[in-house]
Amino acid sequence: MATFRYWLMGILWFVGGLIFADAPDPAYGKFQIGNPEAAKRGQVALTTRTFTPASFTKDSLKTVWKIWTKKAPADPMSAARERFGLHEAPYPNGGLPMGLRKGTLALDIQGLALDCMVCHGGSILGKSMVGLGNSSLDLQALFEELPGAGLRRIATPYHFSRTRGTNEAVATSVYLFGLRTPELDFQLTRTYPKLVDTLCGDVPAWWLMKKKATLYATGEGDARSSRGLMQFSLHPLNQKVFFEKEESTFKDILQYLYSIEAPKYPFMVNHSLAVRGLGIFQNHCSKCHGTYGENPTYPNKIVPLEDVATDPGRLNAYPMEFAQKYSRSWFAKGHEGWLADGYQGRVNAGYQAPPLDGIWATAPYLHNGSVPTLGHLLESKTRPARFTRSYLTTESDYDKDKIGWIIRRVDPKEFPTNAHEARKIYDTNEVGRSNQGHDYGDSLTDEERKALLEYLKTL
Ligand code: HEC
Ligand code: HEC
Repeated sequence: MATFRYWLMGILWFVGGLIFADAPDPAYGKFQIGNPEAAKRGQVALTTRTFTPASFTKDSLKTVWKIWTKKAPADPMSAARERFGLHEAPYPNGGLPMGLRKGTLALDIQGLALDCMVCHGGSILGKSMVGLGNSSLDLQALFEELPGAGLRRIATPYHFSRTRGTNEAVATSVYLFGLRTPELDFQLTRTYPKLVDTLCGDVPAWWLMKKKATLYATGEGDARSSRGLMQFSLHPLNQKVFFEKEESTFKDILQYLYSIEAPKYPFMVNHSLAVRGLGIFQNHCSKCHGTYGENPTYPNKIVPLEDVATDPGRLNAYPMEFAQKYSRSWFAKGHEGWLADGYQGRVNAGYQAPPLDGIWATAPYLHNGSVPTLGHLLESKTRPARFTRSYLTTESDYDKDKIGWIIRRVDPKEFPTNAHEARKIYDTNEVGRSNQGHDYGDSLTDEERKALLEYLKTL
């Protein structure tokens, strides 16, 4: 039986590779990216409105410190920001950090709601940015501590995050979609009761979306579908009418996401070395990651797992029935994009090689955030097995030699005393957290890697 299963998986890989490896589809070409008015409307909607009811009381962020210390911090709001890894909002947000916003709890009582930027609002060199993944976030602490406003901890139905800076958004989408019919009505029994919450998902940067035809680590989503974005609003209190009513808002939000640009590397670059690096990139990396500069190209390759050989956990996280139900669902019946044209939910057989624009700013690397710097990525034997970092984002937390976060290797004997501290340690021996694979830089010499790193700074 097992042999048969492997045999079948092999065939699926092969067929998946044929169908999905080089993605573009005729419908993709017709879709318009770049509508400045819509993008502006989308930006306003995303940074001023809430799309889910409030989950926390109005003052919870100010009082939550009581759960971890007896002594009141001098500035309770910044203590909470640091505890959960939230960043100051780069837009007017009523003194709240990115990711939280005033919203309605129930019966017109004001509270705090979460928004997309809790995960998709990050900070680099101390500067907040919408669209940069939040690599400081401790979402587990936030969900355990904020609902009780500092009076008590609550138990979560599954892990929201296992390691700081990564999260289990995939489990959330499987959980919430499992409570709906394909037409988004509520159903009493939840399908797919088995959740995979060991993925440690690293949040991709939104500025890459304009180049992509397919989304997510595995390329199973449609990058031109505004309905697809709405699945992140499957809050149990959002009825089906919400989705129909807000569809046009999400079309605008999608245009805003396409309009976001990657930040430029702000430090010195050795240009003659970078030119050497360009040559190495063209020979060793371009076939999967595309070309940059004047007329950029992006092949949108979904690379079979046997080739890239990174952690397989994410590939196996969505049950096949989930993908099938998704393709029959309201989300898949948008009027633009691929799914509308009869594409089945993409159950892919590998990981998408992402565009590398602004790659200097998006550490840690790989879909599970298991590699803290580009230097470590390019020489697999140097990758740290167990490490921690400050989870702050200032210049002194940034490693300009290796390009990424400054880390400290942690001895296996060092066991932190509480769960919050334990989440600050990334242990690549744990399920879903392997830092294996993607060894395409290993065959290069030290000189070549140095030149390549210099080039990567310029993307
Ligand atoms: C709990 C954290 C979290 C929240 C909240 C969240 N996301 Fe995400 N998002 C993720 C993670 C993690 C991924 C990567 C998932 C993967 O591929 O495994 C992702 C992926 C995406 C992608 C695909 C990007 C790409 O290039 O592949 C889009 C688009 C997106 N999210 C939009 C949104 C929008 C819009 C919202 C708010 C309505 C939102 N997300 C809320 C964590 C989150
Ligand atoms: C055979 C295709 C292939 C080649 C060749 C290749 N890559 Fe990749 N690369 C991938 C895939 C697939 C991923 C995503 C893997 C994952 O997340 O598990 C990736 C991920 C990355 C990432 C991490 C992106 C992120 O946001 O986390 C970087 C950086 C990168 N590659 C750089 C390079 C460089 C530099 C080279 C040349 C030395 C190279 N790659 C060669 C396929 C390739």
